[in-house]
Amino acid sequence: MAEQITLVATAAMGLESLVAREVKALGYEPETENGRVTFKAPISAIPRCNLWLRVADRVKLLVGEFEAKTFDELFEGTKALPWERFIPEDGKFPVTGKSVKSELYSVPDCQAIVKKAIVEKLKLKHGMANRMPENGALHKVEVSILKDKVSLTMDTSGAGLHKRGYRIGQGEAPLKETMAAALVMLTNWKPEAPFIDPFCGSGTIPIEAALIGQNIAPGFNRSFDSENWNWIRNKHWTDAFNEAEDLANYDQELHISGYDIDHKLVDIASENAIEAGLGDLITWKQMQVSDLTLQGEGGYIIGNPPYGERLADSERVQQIYRQLGDVTKGHPTWNVYILTAFSEFEEAYGKEATKKRKLFNGFIETNYYQYFGESE
Ligand SMILES: C[S@@+](CC[C@H](N)C(=O)[O-])C[C@H]1O[C@@H](n2cnc3c(N)ncnc32)[C@H](O)[C@@H]1O
Repeated sequence: MAEQITLVATAAMGLESLVAREVKALGYEPETENGRVTFKAPISAIPRCNLWLRVADRVKLLVGEFEAKTFDELFEGTKALPWERFIPEDGKFPVTGKSVKSELYSVPDCQAIVKKAIVEKLKLKHGMANRMPENGALHKVEVSILKDKVSLTMDTSGAGLHKRGYRIGQGEAPLKETMAAALVMLTNWKPEAPFIDPFCGSGTIPIEAALIGQNIAPGFNRSFDSENWNWIRNKHWTDAFNEAEDLANYDQELHISGYDIDHKLVDIASENAIEAGLGDLITWKQMQVSDLTLQGEGGYIIGNPPYGERLADSERVQQIYRQLGDVTKGHPTWNVYILTAFSEFEEAYGKEATKKRKLFNGFIETNYYQYFGESE
C-alpha cells in the first residue's frame, strides 16, 4: 500500500461539513473536529486536494501532534518528528504560530523553539555541521497550540485556495471564491437549470457556478508551494492535472447570468470570466433588480446583495429586497438563495425563508436565506 500521510483541510467557520463532503468525493475518509477536516491519504492526495477542493482555505500536511505545557516539552516533541522526511537540506522553512487557551501562550517564543528544534533535527539527519542555507523551496511550517495540544503542520497550498488566479478586477465587497463556491454547493442547482445572480459585482458567484457546472477543477489556473517539494513525485502532479483535464466537461451547456446595477462591475465580471477560461459562457448585463424578469421553470437565484451596514443605507437595502420579492412572487418553481447580514431580510422580501443557515462572510455574521421552489 502507498505511504499514508495525514492532511488537514482548513475552512471558514460553518463550512467544514461542505469541505468534508468534498474530501469524501475525492475518495478519502474525513474526520471533522475543531473546525478542521482531517484525513489519511496517499501522497498523491496533495495535488488532487489542492486542485479540487472548492471550499477549503488551505491543505496542510500534519507532521505530528503531542501535548506540551513547557518549552522543553515543545522542543523535544518537535525534535522527535521526522522533519528530514519532508524538508531537504536547502529547504526554506519559516515558522508561524498560534496559541489558544494553552500554558504556552507566547507565540513568538513557541515559533523560535520550534524553529530551533527543526534545525537541530535536520542538521543531525542531513549530516550538516554549518548553518542551513535555506535558499531552496518554501516549506511553511505552522505551530498551532489548542488547550496544550500542539499540532505541527506544513502548508502545501501556498497562497490561500480562494486565490484561483482569475480575479483581475474586483468591486468594493467581493465574496471570497471559496465562499461563493459554498453558496452554490449549498443549493440543489444542476447545470441544466437557469441560474441568475442579480447582484453579481465582480462575478464571483456565477464564475464559481460555471466552474462547478462544467466540473472544472478550481485550482487549474494556479500553482502551489508543494509543487516544488522534492518528496512529491512530479508524476503525482501530472496525473492530477491530467485527471482534472479528463474530468472537465467543457461541452456542458450552461444558462448562467450575472447582473449588476453598476456597469463598471459588469465589465470587470466579464473580464474575470474570460481570465477563468470561461469565455462568453456566462451572460453579463447591467441591470437593476427591479427590472429582472424570470423565464423558464425551476431556476435558481443566488446572490449577495448590499447589506446596508450603515444605518443610512437601511431604507435603500430594504427597497432592494422588496423589489427582489416582487420579481420572484409569481414564480413558485424558482429557488431563491440570498446571503445578507441584514436581520430583517425576510420582512422586506415579504416571505419567511424555508431554511436559514448562519455563515461568516469574513468577520461579518450573515444568514443564508433559502427559499425552495415548488419543484424541489
Ligand atoms: C456585496 S456586492 C456583491 C459582490 C459580489 N458577490 C462579488 O463577489 O463581487 C453587492 C452588489 O449589488 C449591486 N447592487 C446594488 N444595488 C443594486 C440593485 N438595485 N440592483 C442590482 N444590483 C445592485 C452593487 O453594485 C454590488 O456590486
